[in-house]
Amino acid sequence: MKNNRTFTMIKPDALENGHAGAILAHIEKAGFKIVAMKLKKLTAEAAKKFYKIHEERPFFNDLINYITSGPIIAAILEKENAVSDFRALIGNTNPQEAEDGTIRKIYAKSIDANAIHGSDSDENALIESNFHFSNGEII
Ligand code: CMP
Repeated sequence: MKNNRTFTMIKPDALENGHAGAILAHIEKAGFKIVAMKLKKLTAEAAKKFYKIHEERPFFNDLINYITSGPIIAAILEKENAVSDFRALIGNTNPQEAEDGTIRKIYAKSIDANAIHGSDSDENALIESNFHFSNGEII
């Protein structure tokens, strides 16, 4: 992925709590352009593949149960320095430690149900985007 794109996933707690629209508005107001988007429910198999990097972590099973508990919104976003700017916009993985004004600080309740995912590198942005979208689905 060129360094002007990143991948995001609005997580089940955010949809369950009715925050999807506000989060998308927050993302657009920060200057990100949506170039692909879909609502989907991950199977356990897909979730394990997506989060394979965490499979040895103690929270892996809880993570898979949680991320498959309801629908998610997967999207590809475009902006200069997309990966780092988006990580700053969403804030610390743990909402208790997230900076004021960040998406996780505003909308997330816990480190498990933390409202949103953002790719941590250009390389992972490409891998994660290709996991959810085919070329024809990206503008
Ligand atoms: P995400 O950025 O989607 O990547 C993996 C997810 O695992 C992370 O957000 C958190 O929601 C979840 N998680 C649960 N416990 C931890 C932990 N101790 N450290 C990092 N991630 C955790």
